[in-house]
Amino acid sequence: MLTVVDKPVIQYAVEEAIEAGIEHFVFVTGRGKGAIEDHFDLAYELEATLKARGKSAEFEMLKASRPMAGAASFVRQQEPLGLGHAVWCARDIVGDEPFALALPDMLIHGRRGCFAQMIDVYSRHGGNIIAVEEVPHEHVNRYGVVALADDMGHETFRITGMVEKPKVEDAPSDLIISGRYILQPEIFAKLATQKPGAGGEIQLTDAMIALMDEQDFFSYRFEGTTYDCGDKVGYLAANVALALDRPDIEPKFRPVLDKLVKK
Ligand code: G1P
Repeated sequence: MLTVVDKPVIQYAVEEAIEAGIEHFVFVTGRGKGAIEDHFDLAYELEATLKARGKSAEFEMLKASRPMAGAASFVRQQEPLGLGHAVWCARDIVGDEPFALALPDMLIHGRRGCFAQMIDVYSRHGGNIIAVEEVPHEHVNRYGVVALADDMGHETFRITGMVEKPKVEDAPSDLIISGRYILQPEIFAKLATQKPGAGGEIQLTDAMIALMDEQDFFSYRFEGTTYDCGDKVGYLAANVALALDRPDIEPKFRPVLDKLVKK
């Protein structure tokens, strides 16, 4: 629920998914995170006030930015056992269908949403699609890293290997998993028996490695910039970059920023 400019980080991921035509949203949350569920509910007082004041553009924007009735589900991960375990907690709701997965702390900003771009790749190749991007070599140990072969065109490569949080010297490339995935439901069976990996956590990357024996995995280098809002500098950068991209804020914000930078 951390705010970037004027809305929570998680809202950006939901809007990215809405843009891509995603129809149902499953939020895996934890104890004390009830604010997330409330956030995606109807903001009755706010919407009534906007309507009464004739602010129809703002009203329509707010309406378009929340899932439709019955299109949001919430499930709790009782213990923080890792990303793989969090995804597994959604198995009954997702069912036997391919699904898109977003890690909302990775805010991806660009002309076209990352998921919309990934769905184009999925419609060409099927299988499992993982958004990747290049980071400075010394940062690879913070992420999942992919090894690639076979250029399929359109910034898409076949994935031949993956490793979660490798040592810098062992990383197979500088291409990291960016927190957006399109996965097949067979991943849940792998997650069900997945042993803890890096950091003692049940890792999604390890379950994907197991599924690679049976299914295709493709990486996609999306257009856009990622801000890691789980990192203080990344979070600050997200606020500055997104504010500079907002026509209603940029003219007032840029002089303030220039002054601060010159200090
Ligand atoms: C998770 C994934 C990792 C990915 C990263 C992106 O790690 O396990 O592969 O690169 O998200 O943010 P976490 O940030 O949960 O440690």
